[in-house]
Amino acid sequence: MIYLDNAATTFPKPEVVYRAADEFYRHYGGNAGRGANPLARKCAQLLEETRALLADWLGAPAPERVVLTPSATIALNMAILGADLRPGDTVYVTPFEHNSVLRPVEHLRRTRGVRVEEIPFDRRTWACDLDRLTAAFQANPPTLVCVTQASNICGLMPPVVEIARHAKAANPRAVVVVDGAQTAGLYPLSLGDGLIDALIFSGHKSLYGPYGVAGLVLASDWRPAPILLGGTGTFSESVAMPNGLPSAYEPGSHNIWAVAGLRAALEWLRETGREAIVSHTLELAQSLRDRLSRIPGVTLYAPPESRGGATPRSDWCGILAFNVEGIAPQALEAALGARGIAVRAGLHCAPWAHRWLGTLEEGGAVRVSVGWFNSEKHIGSLVQRVQSLERR
Ligand code: ALA
Repeated sequence: MIYLDNAATTFPKPEVVYRAADEFYRHYGGNAGRGANPLARKCAQLLEETRALLADWLGAPAPERVVLTPSATIALNMAILGADLRPGDTVYVTPFEHNSVLRPVEHLRRTRGVRVEEIPFDRRTWACDLDRLTAAFQANPPTLVCVTQASNICGLMPPVVEIARHAKAANPRAVVVVDGAQTAGLYPLSLGDGLIDALIFSGHKSLYGPYGVAGLVLASDWRPAPILLGGTGTFSESVAMPNGLPSAYEPGSHNIWAVAGLRAALEWLRETGREAIVSHTLELAQSLRDRLSRIPGVTLYAPPESRGGATPRSDWCGILAFNVEGIAPQALEAALGARGIAVRAGLHCAPWAHRWLGTLEEGGAVRVSVGWFNSEKHIGSLVQRVQSLERR
């Protein structure tokens, strides 16, 4: 199997991740912060070490600002639903957001009467139209701004910091939430200057760890209202949630098994280096893009190349989608799967992005997402198979 669906989850994992997860349940599977028995203490230590590694890798101002959740979707819900919006407040989202953002925002539109506005992007250059955005921010100041760090379909990386700067200029109390599910840690963001309030990360994607651990970095002084309540192993005499970070947002037992794997992944990331990972994946993605674009009948969906220049590119993380004339994306996914190549077709839980790309009506597109463990040979096999399908 040639795995080219790393945007869904990175696979395989570094060998050390398997070993750490296995070792956890064989030797010290306790519960972190619940009691002081030797296993509970060992797990608490593992949790705090992992939090410190995460803070370092993600650029969080302090380890306690890293709040762990079971998934990025839960982290996004905590930030968006916890933003305590009122009727008439305006939420801005890019057209590239995942349903993990769009659905909580839609829920607020229906139940709280918030207004939802789309951040404009130029259809020719794919650049964010900052002039139009500034005018929109002036007409309807933002209360909440949700921006993905990278589209999970076409890899477009919006200018997150510039959007945040304009948002704060229009309303210093605006909350800026960045969905870093695809890229957090690989493309560093400055989190200490108050422009970004929350960065969401996923343990099983850009961090190469297991499922079951993700989170949000509460980068500024903004604190969402907690939407999940329960035991924290601290202040147990009180039925009110503790206020301190990170406990205020971490009710329930942690998934320490996943945390054990994530710690090993973070150590592996540090040794491997983010530049090495980014340049390897971008090189493969560029090669794929060049080769697919030469096949007749193929339409590619990725930011236009003319906007590049800088290495690595600051507007594309290497995820791309394509369609082949006359073949439905799902049929193409199935045909590639039958030949041992894993990609993902359909709408990728981001319907507005497909609407923006013009692929909604045809059932979406086929997405290819490379990772550290892919090679040029994998790209060659995919290209060859698309070519042979094309010739039929
Ligand atoms: N959100 C994941 C994807 O893009 C699952 O495939």
